[in-house]
Amino acid sequence: MNDVSAVRVPPAVLPKPNDPCWCGNGTKYKKCHRGADAVEARKRGPETRSRGIRPGVISPMRTVPSHVQRPDYAASGRPARVYPPTEIKTPDVIARMRRACKAAAEVMNITASHVRPGITTDELDAIAHEEYVKRGGYPSPLNYHGFPKSICTSVNEVICHGIPDNRALEEGDIVNLDITIFLEGVHGDCSATYPVGTVDPDSERLVRVTRECLMLGIEAVKPGRPINDIGKAIEAHATQNGMGVVRAYCGHGIGERFHTALQIPHHFDPEAKTIMEPGMTFTIEPMITLGHWHHRVWDDGWTAVTADGSRTAQFEHTILVTDQGVDILTVA
Ligand code: MF3
Ligand code: CO
Ligand code: CO
Repeated sequence: MNDVSAVRVPPAVLPKPNDPCWCGNGTKYKKCHRGADAVEARKRGPETRSRGIRPGVISPMRTVPSHVQRPDYAASGRPARVYPPTEIKTPDVIARMRRACKAAAEVMNITASHVRPGITTDELDAIAHEEYVKRGGYPSPLNYHGFPKSICTSVNEVICHGIPDNRALEEGDIVNLDITIFLEGVHGDCSATYPVGTVDPDSERLVRVTRECLMLGIEAVKPGRPINDIGKAIEAHATQNGMGVVRAYCGHGIGERFHTALQIPHHFDPEAKTIMEPGMTFTIEPMITLGHWHHRVWDDGWTAVTADGSRTAQFEHTILVTDQGVDILTVA
């Protein structure tokens, strides 16, 4: 970096990490002004910052009583890199998943009942944390690859993996709560987006269409059919409504591990040809945007936002492929 930084002003749309820096000296942006721009952005007062969600203060990690069974990553932050040899679950695992998924849905309903203007996302995290533990469960997100909280809270243009912090929800926001419990040795994963007070008509439509996308994706689950039937159904509905489908994050196989190797794209991916078979358990969790589907990740390494700042919503269920079709497991 050179003196030019003192007189030149960064553009409204910043370069990608590997693009040339905006200052024109030919160096890659990530090696040049990216660090300085991030520091400046944090220094600017709230009045002068662009509108949108900004990082807040994250409280210390919550603790889980020692009697609660923990997943392998709870202490280290690193899940073992071994994947189950099959996505088809035994009747015993399925029975345990039904109970874990029901518990996740209960934690969701209770936590969601507290969504209102003025509550902070950290307070929602505290409520959920207590409800997981009450049921004898461990909050799956806690220390998963180092994630610092027990739920994800994704507000407005945050696509997913928002970290609960001291930001109070505001009238007109939309917030996604993503809740996953580890109970009886298996994970149950669900999420839903809620309006905070009264929201604008576009946000209301976004939330409705995203819920419909999840249900259409679930209806496409049939043994003998390829996984990409799911994304085909979701993408068609989003496109008809002029909305985008986020591509960077997919649904996933789930069971004794939080995320297995099986991926469920929410757009039509011709390569996703795995055939659905009875006994498979996976999530469907479409992230739909009012604008483009391109995303960025904040410097915290987690918070994914739309690149264009448009609002985005998400709904998620854990499902079981049955002989006839599908069972939704994450219901209270
Ligand atoms: N629950 C999210 C999902 O739907 C994953 C959250 S990972 C975390 O797959 F580390 F952020 F918790
Ligand atoms: Co989830
Ligand atoms: Co998930």
